[in-house]
Amino acid sequence: MRAWIFGRYGGPEVLEWADLPEPVAGKGEIVVRVVAAALNPLDWKLRAGQYKVMTAGRLPRGVGYDYAGVVESAGAGVARLKPGDAVVGIVNPVESRHAAMAERVCATEALATVKPPSLTFADGASLPGAGITAVQALREAGLAAGQRVLVVGAAGGVGSFAVQFAKNAGAHVTAVASTEGQAFLAGLAPDRAIDYRREDWKALPGRFDIVFDASGTSTFPECRQLLAPGGVFVHSLPDAALYCWSWWLRLTSRQRCMPVMERPNLEDLETLVRLAAEGSLKSVVTRVGRPDEVPALQREMAEGHNRGKIVVRFAPEA
Ligand SMILES: NC(=O)c1ccc[n+]([C@@H]2O[C@H](COP(=O)([O-])OP(=O)(O)OC[C@H]3O[C@@H](n4cnc5c(N)ncnc54)[C@H](OP(=O)(O)O)[C@@H]3O)[C@@H](O)[C@H]2O)c1
Repeated sequence: MRAWIFGRYGGPEVLEWADLPEPVAGKGEIVVRVVAAALNPLDWKLRAGQYKVMTAGRLPRGVGYDYAGVVESAGAGVARLKPGDAVVGIVNPVESRHAAMAERVCATEALATVKPPSLTFADGASLPGAGITAVQALREAGLAAGQRVLVVGAAGGVGSFAVQFAKNAGAHVTAVASTEGQAFLAGLAPDRAIDYRREDWKALPGRFDIVFDASGTSTFPECRQLLAPGGVFVHSLPDAALYCWSWWLRLTSRQRCMPVMERPNLEDLETLVRLAAEGSLKSVVTRVGRPDEVPALQREMAEGHNRGKIVVRFAPEA
């Protein structure tokens, strides 16, 4: 089978559409014929060598971790899923030997769920990584009805799910994106949309219960004045300074600073799939590419102004 892999760190040119042996499902694993797989910034960051600690000694490695497809075979101990089932799943980008941008992926059953017929494979594949990050970030920040929530990077993968979760929870949502992101953002119906090229959102009057910087482009000191007295700042790209602030605030303030670290799990995945299938989460798929476009799509995403989710189709939807 063919799969996108990289054997050394570098630009998109290090990616190879390689011929690999057919995967065999081990204990607790399923082999899935991939219909669609979604891009995430982690794909190009791993390829560029930004997180060598996660990949050290494990090159060559595959690309991508969100997938939707059809189960072809199941290993020993697989009880919930069976061959022929349409599924949505995620491979753990740190632990797994396999990856999603491939004709077939060998994945753990523990991180896969049945795809309802009302959900397309492309929409299913768009959900896991960005959706789980958004749902965990807002839940841990204490999202509740009536709160004032600010989402920065609202037109990106994580941000576009965060806007929808916050709206669904009954929060008043202010969403920040570039001029180019405004049309896409309007489809998510935030209560207020801000174009950061025209207005300085860091100087907004009023106070927010949650400030979620899904783009990871700001710092806590820059955003602190936006927080209500018990407000929470959530950031998708934790660094040492953020952890220091997090610790310091616990000792000195009612405000909190919370680094987000996505933890793939079945319960959140099932929630996302159910919400999307019943229409409570709108599709954020903005582009469906071909397998041969993966290097170009990664290059585009690395420019930092992605809209919603980009998905690659490896087999026909039907
Ligand atoms: N910690 C974790 O577990 C975790 C999990 C998932 C993702 N992440 C990280 O979170 C970040 C976002 O992920 P994603 O999947 O949403 O990425 P994405 O789809 O590429 O979206 C990033 C968004 O950031 C916006 N942006 C860029 N520069 C900005 C700026 N100066 N001010 C405000 N917005 C800006 C872009 O929109 P505009 O065109 O509007 O600028 C774009 O829509 C990435 O760095 C990713 O690696 C972390």
